[in-house]
Amino acid sequence: VHQWRGVIEEYRALLDIPEGTPAVTLREGGTPLVDSGWLSGLTGAEVWLKVEGNNPTGSFKDRGMTTAISVAVHEGAKAVVCASTGNTSASMAAYAAKAGLKPLVLVPEGKIAAGKMAQAIMHGGQIIMVRGNFDDCLTMARELSENYPVALVNSVNPARLQGQKTAAFEIVDFLGDAPDLHFLPVGNAGNISAYWMGYTEYEKRGKSTHRPVMRGFQAEGAAPLVHGAPVADPETKATAIRIGNPASWDLAVAAKEESGGSFTAISDADILSAQAQLAAHDGVFVEPASAIGVAGLLRAVEAGEDFSGKRIVITVTGNGLKDTATALEGLGELVEVVVDADVDAAARVAGLA
Ligand code: F0G
Repeated sequence: VHQWRGVIEEYRALLDIPEGTPAVTLREGGTPLVDSGWLSGLTGAEVWLKVEGNNPTGSFKDRGMTTAISVAVHEGAKAVVCASTGNTSASMAAYAAKAGLKPLVLVPEGKIAAGKMAQAIMHGGQIIMVRGNFDDCLTMARELSENYPVALVNSVNPARLQGQKTAAFEIVDFLGDAPDLHFLPVGNAGNISAYWMGYTEYEKRGKSTHRPVMRGFQAEGAAPLVHGAPVADPETKATAIRIGNPASWDLAVAAKEESGGSFTAISDADILSAQAQLAAHDGVFVEPASAIGVAGLLRAVEAGEDFSGKRIVITVTGNGLKDTATALEGLGELVEVVVDADVDAAARVAGLA
């Protein structure tokens, strides 16, 4: 049996990282494109979900972390640091553990989903809670890396986007061409920038005939790219994308403009509704932020946009198990049924008897 080797070994020739960089890998990437029968039926389009929650630590961050940590090792780093809304820290801590580096995590106090925090702790992260938001944490992480012997692995580190662009390669490799449209969440804006880089490079290599229209989605309370100005106090239940001043602002705007795309704000209620519907219709449980592309497609359909005959890829960025509390909260009051250990009682409750 041939095992998927992880994104560095699968795509090394296409990655701009130093020659001879060792691959610190947990076999990330190679994630499934799952057809959405529900959304295809609703739109008349061919809708695919790129399920990034299937990565080793449960989010797309692993694609960029294998490259960032590998380059850090190559350059002799002993410690790594990141600011995070949760997933980056979980991923960094895991890859740092594998590489024997010390992981230092800066997170906004009280705003990280429990599953992500557990991951960062279990992988040996030194967790520092900051009284501030993600943007404050990123400023601190940058300054720490400038003044102390610790390497920054946020997506401002170019090795991150090199790894993350492989998601676009996989999509084109699987579909045989680029999709017509690509929908995804935008927070710090590294991922949309990486996808655009990947699609652009593949088109230049003749692997695709075109590039997709890129549509990025932000939560209403944290939508700087939609408003065209930073947001001082970003707020959303989709804590992964609770970001007011994205670091890759210019690259994200370029992806939008060069592709003829758009940025759209989505309410928390619509995000949580899309999350629940996706889980119930397609069997794919994603975290709240990850459902925003689905919510965006539903919104466009409601507004009367015609997608028939199109091929659409929606990146669902992280696993639903990371933040079960917000998912269940979104459903409202849960009716629990408790019965005695009695088959007939269970059958009655289930409407079978
Ligand atoms: N979806 C999830 C699940 C995320 O965790 C993030 C970002 C995004 C989407 C947005 O991606 O930042 O590249 O635009 N999470 C970062 C973190 C900020 O710290 O885990 P982006």
